[in-house]
Amino acid sequence: MPSATMDDVAHEGSTATGHIEHLEHVLATHPRARLAQLPTPIHRLPNFGAQIGIPELWIKRDDLTGLEGGGNKTRKLEFLVGDALRAGADTLVTIGAIQSNHTRQTAAAAARAGMKCALLHFGWTEDAGPGYRSVGNVLLSSLMGAQLFVDDTPRPIEDQGPLDEFCDHLARLGHRPYPIPGGASEHRLGSLGYMACAAEIERQCHETGLGFDVIVHCTGSSSTQSGLLAGYAALGTPMQVIGISDDDETDIKRRRVHDLANSALAECGIDAVVDEREVHVVAGDRSVYGKADEQTFAMIRLLAATEGLAADPVYEGKALRGLQMLAAEGSFPPGSRVLLMHLGGTPALHAYASQFGSPHLEPFRGGENSASPPVR
Ligand SMILES: Cc1ncc(COP(=O)(O)O)c(C=O)c1O
Repeated sequence: MPSATMDDVAHEGSTATGHIEHLEHVLATHPRARLAQLPTPIHRLPNFGAQIGIPELWIKRDDLTGLEGGGNKTRKLEFLVGDALRAGADTLVTIGAIQSNHTRQTAAAAARAGMKCALLHFGWTEDAGPGYRSVGNVLLSSLMGAQLFVDDTPRPIEDQGPLDEFCDHLARLGHRPYPIPGGASEHRLGSLGYMACAAEIERQCHETGLGFDVIVHCTGSSSTQSGLLAGYAALGTPMQVIGISDDDETDIKRRRVHDLANSALAECGIDAVVDEREVHVVAGDRSVYGKADEQTFAMIRLLAATEGLAADPVYEGKALRGLQMLAAEGSFPPGSRVLLMHLGGTPALHAYASQFGSPHLEPFRGGENSASPPVR
C-alpha cells in the first residue's frame, strides 16, 4: 500500500484534467441513457472511521445514484440501456436473486427509459425471512411495472441459468428483448459505468484538493471493480482498488475482474492494461452469498449508530466487515485516506429484518407515566 502523507496524496494523487477529459471523451462515443444523478457525494465518516481505526475514512455515496433505492447498477445501465435503445430493443431482460438490487435497478431504468422489463429470479440463496418475497427490492420492481418470473431451481451464484432461453421465449411472444447478464457485468459495456466513475472521483478530487490512497468496495459480479481499475489505468493514475468479496470465491472474482478490466480497455480502444498483480480481492465474512456472520451484523449496527447510514448484510455489510479486518491487520499506513464506496442495497435490508431481531418498542401511555424513569 502507498505510505504517502496526506499532503503528498493530495498532490501526487490528483489526475491532470486533460486525462480526465480524454477518458470522458472516449466514453462519450458510446450511446448513454442518462439515468443517474451524478456526481454522487463524497463525505467523511469521522465517527465510524474512528471506531475501526481509520481516521481518514471517506465514503462515496453510490447508494444515492438517483433511481429509487440507488446503487451501482444505475451507472452501468446507463451504457447498456443506451445500447439497447440504439439496437431497437423494447424490453430489458435480466436475472438475479429475489432480493437483487440489480434487477430492481433494471426495472427502474426501464421505467425511466420508457421500456418494458422482464426479470427472472433465481434461488441463488435461501429466503432470508418471512418478507423475503414481498418487501424491499422485489416490491419496488413490481411497483415499477416489471414482469416478475421465478425459477426456484437451486443453483450456484455463478450460474446465469437460462437467460438466453428466457429471451427467446419473450421474443416468440412479440417482445424485442435486450439480455443483461447478472449484475450487468459480463457484457462488453458492463465496466464502462465505473470507468466513468473513476473520472468522476478524480474530478471531485481535483475540485476539492482531496486525494485518496485506496478505494475499498464490495465485489460480486465484478464490473464495479473492473471498471474502476480500467478507469484508473486509462487515466494513468495509480490507484489501489480493493474488492471485498460478497462470499469466499475470491479466485473466481480476481480472474473475472482482471478479464473484464482489460476487455473494457480494449472495447474503448485505450492503450493501457491492468496487470493481474493490481487486482486485489479479499474476503472478510466468508459466508456464502446471501448469508452473513455476526461480525457483519455488528458492523451494520455500528455504521447506523455512528453515522446514521444503512448497509445490507448481502453486500455492503460485508464490505464494512472487510474494511474493519484490513484496518485491524494494519493494511492502511497511518495517514492513509481511504475511500469506501457505498454501492447501495439498502432496500434488501428490510427483507432481512428478522435476522436483526425485533426493534424494542417501550410502552408509553399519556397520563399513566407521572414518575419519570431514568433516561437511557
Ligand atoms: C449493494 C451492492 N454492493 C455491491 C455489489 C457488487 O458489485 P459488482 O456486482 O459490480 O461486483 C452489488 C451487486 O450486486 C450490490 O448490489
